Amino acid sequence: MRSHLCGQLRDSDIGTEVSLCGRVHKRRDHGGVIFLDVRDHKGIVQVVFDPDTVEAFALADQVRNEYVLNIKGRVRARDGAAINPKMLTGQIEVLGQELVILNKSETPPFQLDEHSEAGEDIRLRYRYIDLRRPEMQEKLRLRSRASHFIRCYLEGSGFIDIETPILTKATPEGARDYLVPSRTHPASFFALPQSPQLFKQLLTMSGFDKYYQIARCFRDEDLRADRQPEFTQIDIETTFQDEQAIMDMAEDMIRKLFIEIIDVDLGEFAVMTYADTMQKYGSDRPDLRFDLPFVDVADLMKEVEFKVFSTPANDADSRVVALRLSEGSRLSRKMIDDYTKFVSIYGARGLAYIRVNDIEAGVSGLQSPILKFLPDDVVKSIMDRVGAVNDVIIFFAADKKGVVNDALGALRCKLAKDLDLYEREWAPLWVTEFPMFDGDGKGNWSATHHPFTHPIGDTDEMLKNPGATLSRAYDMVLNGNELGGGSIRVHQMSVQEKIFKVLKLSENESRMKFGFLLDALTYGAPPHGGIAFGLDRIVMLLTGSQAIRDVIAFPKTQTAACLLTSAPSEIDDPQLRDLSISVIKPVKAESN
Ligand code: AMO
Ligand code: AMP
Repeated sequence: MRSHLCGQLRDSDIGTEVSLCGRVHKRRDHGGVIFLDVRDHKGIVQVVFDPDTVEAFALADQVRNEYVLNIKGRVRARDGAAINPKMLTGQIEVLGQELVILNKSETPPFQLDEHSEAGEDIRLRYRYIDLRRPEMQEKLRLRSRASHFIRCYLEGSGFIDIETPILTKATPEGARDYLVPSRTHPASFFALPQSPQLFKQLLTMSGFDKYYQIARCFRDEDLRADRQPEFTQIDIETTFQDEQAIMDMAEDMIRKLFIEIIDVDLGEFAVMTYADTMQKYGSDRPDLRFDLPFVDVADLMKEVEFKVFSTPANDADSRVVALRLSEGSRLSRKMIDDYTKFVSIYGARGLAYIRVNDIEAGVSGLQSPILKFLPDDVVKSIMDRVGAVNDVIIFFAADKKGVVNDALGALRCKLAKDLDLYEREWAPLWVTEFPMFDGDGKGNWSATHHPFTHPIGDTDEMLKNPGATLSRAYDMVLNGNELGGGSIRVHQMSVQEKIFKVLKLSENESRMKFGFLLDALTYGAPPHGGIAFGLDRIVMLLTGSQAIRDVIAFPKTQTAACLLTSAPSEIDDPQLRDLSISVIKPVKAESN
């Protein structure tokens, strides 16, 4: 049906007879001549219809935006004044001779060239139209190239692609499971995999030395811009390799991916332990495109009368942290009030600050609502500690560690964004030596990553002091996003049993949940480890998108629904009976 693609016509095609297929992007009527901008996946070309081609002209008069057309005509040069240097096809146009309307279109619910005006709900409801936009086309094409590159890289390095089940048993990755009722086993449920974790471990035990899969994962968790209930992992597992070898391979893959797809050299990957990232940036995925580190000042505040600072300063679970921002005069009083509101989202009860107007003048050169609560020698020590110079502003947060880390960690990123503090465009980082367990303070422990992560050090020590035990886990972080994470796994039953003991999982429970894996460990499991990357997040960064929704063809909303298909939806009684399910409907609040 077509001889050429609209967006590929150039002045070298002048004089050529062409047959084009595409959609009407725009139609203009200019004093008896009709111009159609016709769009296909390669771009847009202008087609002109003169009244002397009577039939085609009459049809061109009828078409509206998004009609699907087949046009035959001849490529010609545009007149000087009509040349459009902004368009790749701007030197030429097609003189239309025949036109067939292949299909009509209703008026689209939003303009394809003014998408920003359209709300996300309407874009998701009509996603198939939204995806026609060149920007979305480009994103999904780039995604395809990225996964193609990764497949080639891994296949070329000896990895083999093995599919693992979607209908399976719960895999512990810290989120809720999506469950699927079984008809053939009434009252029993499959879980959709949160990751292929257990199967990939089993595959190493089956003798597959290097496994990979571009795998769909499902997690019922609170959604954010970088989380979807179903998402895609680049899942990798290897045998007989230590963490350094796995990290080297993963780093090489990501580095080459960025060069191949967007011609960016990520440069050197920083490496920090979890303890250091928390200490210095209050986050295990710090954005290192700018510095702005935390400065601990609790030791200076222990004796002060100002309880807001002295109470946390004397509590081992709390922190008092300062953040020194240069060119503090950029911040108005109103902005400081707004930042105080911002940190309150994270539970901070205030945001104290000191402005340094004249460091030589001592305390009288400073300006702050808290100076009156602090002795001069303490103020001087703070100034020395943070390296205060004229025109810095020093923020303080004092609270439980979690609150200070979250609040100041987020403030750090917000200041960088608002004031453009970025010193580099890309800042990759490995975070290592995560804690093995998270405690609730009452002696109950949960696995920080998953319970198959190998601890560092003596496992009897781990039993005695789970909170101090670190793990052989590593995360890759880019510009404040966790791109991927992995670990060396437990391959010895004796170690796995001790981990379950810390988690207070009885033998019965652990057998019920992961009996198959425990059995497999007893048949000669090799040392193994791996990593999984979030493909959506990688593509989000490669395309400069704000949310992973923008790089997924048919994403879910923030409430985990699909506006296009209206899923999830109720199912009818016979189907429920088949599945032996009785539904408790939530009681709707009465409106008065
Ligand atoms: P983890 O849970 O860290 O590790 O997941 C690996 C990577 O998957 C991405 N990711 C997500 N992307 C979008 N939406 C989500 N809801 C979501 N959750 C996670 C992130 C993350 O870094 N089995 C282990 C990996 C291993 O140990 O090999 C795992 O799943 O980019
Ligand atoms: P107040 O005595 O509550 O008026 O607080 C005096 C100053 O300390 C104000 O600037 C508050 O924003 C700040 N502030 C209060 N609580 C905290 C806190 N937990 N951490 C840091 N600053 C605080």
